[in-house]
Amino acid sequence: MKTSCKIAVSLMAAALSLSFAQTACAFKVGIAMPTQNEERWMKEGFELRDKLKSAGFDVELFYGGDDDVPIQQRQLPRMVKEGCNALVVASIDGNALTQALEPAQKAGIPVISYDRLIMNTGAVTYYATFDNYKAGVIQGQAIVKALDLDNLPEGEHKTIELFGGSAKDNNSKFFWNGAMEVLKPYFDDGRLIVPSGQTKFEECAIDLWSNDIAQKRMDELLGKAGYKPDGQGDKHLDAIYSSADILSSGIIASLRHAGYTGKTAPVLTGQDATAYAVKSMQEGFQYMTVLKDASVLCDRVVEMAKEIASGKDVEINDTKTYDNGAGFVKTYQCEPVSVDRENMKKLLIDTGKVKL
Ligand code: BGC
Repeated sequence: MKTSCKIAVSLMAAALSLSFAQTACAFKVGIAMPTQNEERWMKEGFELRDKLKSAGFDVELFYGGDDDVPIQQRQLPRMVKEGCNALVVASIDGNALTQALEPAQKAGIPVISYDRLIMNTGAVTYYATFDNYKAGVIQGQAIVKALDLDNLPEGEHKTIELFGGSAKDNNSKFFWNGAMEVLKPYFDDGRLIVPSGQTKFEECAIDLWSNDIAQKRMDELLGKAGYKPDGQGDKHLDAIYSSADILSSGIIASLRHAGYTGKTAPVLTGQDATAYAVKSMQEGFQYMTVLKDASVLCDRVVEMAKEIASGKDVEINDTKTYDNGAGFVKTYQCEPVSVDRENMKKLLIDTGKVKL
């Protein structure tokens, strides 16, 4: 930050309802979002931009095309060149930004890792996210409830297939580990089995959270295992663990193609409370989703930006969960919320969070 701006900003710190816009040197925040092809990021980039603007910041919003890593790598140094005083970055490949963040680090520009942790760099100053492990736990618990696994008659079992997130996203393992922690006892005693045998995260991870790849993998699973809407025994698929709505959309496309309906579809999880998921839940194709309220995370980042700009301590609530390889990152974790067919109207439709 230029010295004159620093003085102007710290003078304003006294009155924190500051309007940065009224100062000679406004504080500029650069936002980098991963893709325009996913409902969550599309909505959230603009919501964050608008909230930061209303708080008086200058804002530049960039999208990394459609999960295009080199585009995002070029954007970050450009944001520094263009005078951003802080960066908010939702990474595409969390392991690929070490070099791209060097200019920010050299210039002492704070970087907020948004939702996904950027790995292997000391450039990340703060991390604003949700309790990612808990999101997975919520998904696992939903499967246990939907399949009534605790009340299965002796000797019976249910079938499941597993879809994890992108291996390039640090969140993916948190979701997976949270869900598997809940499901482990049922796998261990045989109440739950994975007929494909694909049980390791590496076998089930869907690169870059691509719905097309998820669809293709589901096609393959249906073909190889011979699952059918009216299949009996292990030809009947009871559940699919899917880490997020975007994967579920590909899985549902595959199920539809194979003749499944909302009545015969397996129990399917998700995450993000997207409009697509709500429609799928109404139709019976999806059982649940996880609400990670965009407005809560955006408000948190606006607070962080205000604290950074005014030189105040930045509020965090976690220092021991997220190690990005350069050390534990100061984090604020927000709470994820379980959404199913029973509470989706109240939580998503009546509140206007999802518009159908
Ligand atoms: C986010 C999820 C999202 C997924 C795919 C994850 O990092 O935490 O909310 O569904 O990426 O974009």
